[in-house]
Amino acid sequence: MSTQFHTLKVSNIQRETKGCVSVAFEVPKALREDFTFSSGQYLTLKTDISGEEIRRSYSLCSSPHENQWRVAIKEILNGKFSSYANQHLQTGDTLEVMAPMGNFKIEPNPSNSNHYLLFAAGSGVTPVFSILKTILKEEPLSTLTLFYGNKGMSEIIFREELEAIKNRFLDRINIIHVFSRENIGIPLLKGRIDAQRTKELLHAFLKNQTVSSAYICGPQEMILAVKDELIVFGLSAAQIHFELFHAAPVEKKIVSEHAQQAAFESKIELIMDGERTNFYLSSDGPTILEAAYKAGADAPFACKGGVCCTCKAKVLRGEISMDVNYALTPEEVAQGYILTCQAHPTSNDVLISFDD
Ligand SMILES: Cc1cc2nc3c(=O)[nH]c(=O)nc-3n(C[C@H](O)[C@H](O)[C@H](O)COP(=O)(O)OP(=O)(O)OC[C@H]3O[C@@H](n4cnc5c(N)ncnc54)[C@H](O)[C@@H]3O)c2cc1C
Ligand code: FES
Repeated sequence: MSTQFHTLKVSNIQRETKGCVSVAFEVPKALREDFTFSSGQYLTLKTDISGEEIRRSYSLCSSPHENQWRVAIKEILNGKFSSYANQHLQTGDTLEVMAPMGNFKIEPNPSNSNHYLLFAAGSGVTPVFSILKTILKEEPLSTLTLFYGNKGMSEIIFREELEAIKNRFLDRINIIHVFSRENIGIPLLKGRIDAQRTKELLHAFLKNQTVSSAYICGPQEMILAVKDELIVFGLSAAQIHFELFHAAPVEKKIVSEHAQQAAFESKIELIMDGERTNFYLSSDGPTILEAAYKAGADAPFACKGGVCCTCKAKVLRGEISMDVNYALTPEEVAQGYILTCQAHPTSNDVLISFDD
């Protein structure tokens, strides 16, 4: 996995809604292989804004078959990067861009005959839009249901494209809009997508239907509510996939018994691009990512909140604990992968590799 940044030119900017732009990048031929992606994955962007280095992740809304690398960025009040992208970024500008990554993805198979359930709210539609276009193109026997929550009609990102898709694939996709602040005369479709509404939506639109897997992207509370209801509906945890864009800050969790012992100094060795960096870190000190930076290693990161997996590395020796993990799968954790932005040593001697 390449965690290098590449300077890419913005080839096109489109206004999607009053508060959202989509931004396409020109990926030179030499980088095309590195920039191969699966629907659902994201790009990490980096730039300087008023002298401050800003890194943020944005899901690709284009589908691999479109041969385009496009992200959609919804403006957040006082948001540093999203305001910059919506108000100042221009076609022809350059940004530093890391190759696509992320676990929230689909690998389509033309022989599949699945029914996919998609839940999105606001900008959470971005990876979901890529996923649905890919399924419609690559899995001719599969069908989809999308529940998409917004404040109102004018906030729907990709509104015209979704309408066109719905009309073109009438028998393969059902798109249901849910508005929290606009009344279209159907009580079920007025309000937030919370637990009760999810239950009712599933009952109304999917009764007696078999769902193969579900993909959810939106605010944290929506993801948790939908996930729980899908389990009640009969899906297993393995059938439910979600992407979190932002997590509420949490108190530092002590997750291992070892971490409850008195603090101790741990010897940390990092491998990155074949080079080794050594430093000591207290078990109750800063994260391994922060300490690595201080020690001079240019370790990759974006959110620093445990929601993307840009800072992923593998523990080759020793033990660590993570404050939170919203991004790694249970299989990856079992294989020794960690989010270094959330990791603290819980043994005296730790060897971590960003290269594995
Ligand atoms: C894997 C991944 C994929 C993502 N994909 C997309 C995408 O496709 N489109 C998109 O618009 N965004 C996406 N995001 C969110 C994006 O990375 C930024 O977090 C978001 O644009 C805000 O950045 P900012 O610099 O404008 O705000 P900041 O300056 O970082 O934050 C300003 C304020 O807003 C709060 N905040 C930050 N992010 C959010 C959020 N997402 N929702 C609510 N409050 C927030 C902060 O706590 C802070 O108070 C994604 C995030 C991740 C981790
Ligand atoms: S930087 Fe996003 S999870 Fe660590």
